[in-house]
Amino acid sequence: MALLKILTFPDPFLKIVAKPVSLFDKALETLVNDMAETMYDEPGIGLAATQIHEDKRLFVMDVFYNKEDPESKKQPVAVINPEIFETGGESCIEEGCLSVPEFRAEIKRFAEVSLRFQDLNQEVHELQAQGILAICIQHELDHLNGKLFIDRLPPLKRRMIQNRLKKENNRSN
Ligand code: NI
Repeated sequence: MALLKILTFPDPFLKIVAKPVSLFDKALETLVNDMAETMYDEPGIGLAATQIHEDKRLFVMDVFYNKEDPESKKQPVAVINPEIFETGGESCIEEGCLSVPEFRAEIKRFAEVSLRFQDLNQEVHELQAQGILAICIQHELDHLNGKLFIDRLPPLKRRMIQNRLKKENNRSN
């Protein structure tokens, strides 16, 4: 297993619309395992393939694992070719992102989503999600469509944040 490098804003690769996964092979399984390891290492509750420079409609997530709790078990879910087919309600909670370090903001999203996706064995699953799970799914699916959570801020606030992050990025390079 290997830790992967996470791209950060304003890397242009974060803006691509990822391609569907069609080849379910050993390499895909290795990629999923490496993505899960990277997610736990950061730590994060989700990681999308485009964040680690892979053009694939795929993310991993584990919203329930708590590193501080010895009883807590890692249960990473590989979500391949995801599609939200039903939405409901409204929710606004604070989000962060491994590709936008040290910035958090409240983002308006659906409170509930129904998700259809494939696992590593190409089997199709349906999942009704609410709470933090529903938010994580929408956040990760946005990544696969070239969207970061800061893109969902109101225009003025978005421009301010983008400029600030670009300045910080220039300083550290
Ligand atoms: Ni993110």
